[in-house]
Amino acid sequence: MDKFVIHGGKQLKGKVEVSGAKNAALVLMPACLLNSGINNFTNVPEVNDISTMAKLLKQLGLDYSFEENKLQIDSSSIVSLEAPYEHVKKMRASVYVLGPLLSRFGSAKVSLPGGCAWGPRPINLHLEAMKKFGAEIDIESGYIIAKSNKLIGTHIHFDISSVGATGNTLMAATLAKGSTKISNAAVEPEITSLVEFLIDMGAKIEGIGTNTLEIEGVDELKPTSAKIIGDRIEAGTLLIAGAITRGKIEMLYENPEHIYSVISKLEDSGLKVFVNNNIVSFDASDYEPKSVDVSTSIYPGFPTDMQAQWTALMAIADSTSTVTDSIYFDRFKHVPELDRLGADIEIIRNSAVIKGVKKLTGAKVMSTDLRASASLVLAGLAAEGITEVLRIYHLDRGYQKIEQKLLTLGAEIERVKTTEF
Ligand code: EPU
Repeated sequence: MDKFVIHGGKQLKGKVEVSGAKNAALVLMPACLLNSGINNFTNVPEVNDISTMAKLLKQLGLDYSFEENKLQIDSSSIVSLEAPYEHVKKMRASVYVLGPLLSRFGSAKVSLPGGCAWGPRPINLHLEAMKKFGAEIDIESGYIIAKSNKLIGTHIHFDISSVGATGNTLMAATLAKGSTKISNAAVEPEITSLVEFLIDMGAKIEGIGTNTLEIEGVDELKPTSAKIIGDRIEAGTLLIAGAITRGKIEMLYENPEHIYSVISKLEDSGLKVFVNNNIVSFDASDYEPKSVDVSTSIYPGFPTDMQAQWTALMAIADSTSTVTDSIYFDRFKHVPELDRLGADIEIIRNSAVIKGVKKLTGAKVMSTDLRASASLVLAGLAAEGITEVLRIYHLDRGYQKIEQKLLTLGAEIERVKTTEF
């Protein structure tokens, strides 16, 4: 097991490049189940969740090679229609195989993902959508057993905008008979990149980038290639790393518009951020963060995946702010750990009420999930003294070579083997 040892208080300075988006790759990879042949991806982040998805696809019979951010998936042979618990328990995105398997092969057995580190994360919308296509869905011994003749196009309206349910439904609809309309579809950039990928495969989809998608089913889809979009959450995390250390950074990121919600909150907190095509930069040498309230919402609102990192920044802001998570009401496992570093944060229902403190002080803290770990690393970079962040395997699920990026920017951070758990 690894931990990070961080000597805080160093200003981050220099250039950094954002890697490919884990959550975009995680939905494009299972989409290959819809075709037969060789699919090529570039800019794929080398993170553990991608390996987990690749291993799950291999278990289904697909072949893959993954080197230097290039991933090739050969979907010519499919030998199993089952996503076992061993894979799904490691990563909830495994449930993305349900729609493609059911739509192309008429059957799928997928382990139920269960809860996640910070609380319940239901998949009822995915299942209801499959039923609307005419599939029979049963739950047996912790598995979703899905069966159907050809799926029949239909109108699916989501009560809640869900990235995962939209992705699964969209993939299923591409090979369904007739037309499907998805209303209140998610509009996150990862979904737009999935729509583009499916269209490249030969799918017929209208409404790209909007919350109403109309799909005309086709008989088959062909293999294709895609460049994974940049990771908006990594981009936002790196910006906060620069801001929290009063650094001066230049970030290379091709879709700054995907993180305007974060940039705009940084500006509200008193930081002048410059966006010039694919470069986002600022000099935070004189930045004294002002307390700014944030409430998470669906895209293009402030992402829940940036909530923990923003909370870390607000921990050293000038007065009191409230950070509310309206997507995941109980996503606050980082708060007691931030308090161990000297933050003054109280959780009231689905909000963190943060009284800014003058400084944070190094301590041992424990990661509980991916974004919680990122917030602890950020706080450790700003804290006086030494911070040890335990259980960074959570971080390794989604941030490519994060310590190397931070080291290049001048952070003092080291990955150390430990037996501490
Ligand atoms: N929801 C339901 N029922 C469902 C599905 C979702 O009630 O069947 C609710 C959820 O409980 C939540 C809301 O709908 O309140 C939105 O959840 P969504 O389905 O959009 O989340 P997801 O698809 O499971 C993806 C990301 C998450 C990110 C959320 C929200 C991937 C692989 N995961 O999850 O990313 O937090 O969207 O933007 O794309 C992360 O990267 O750290 C991460 C957790």
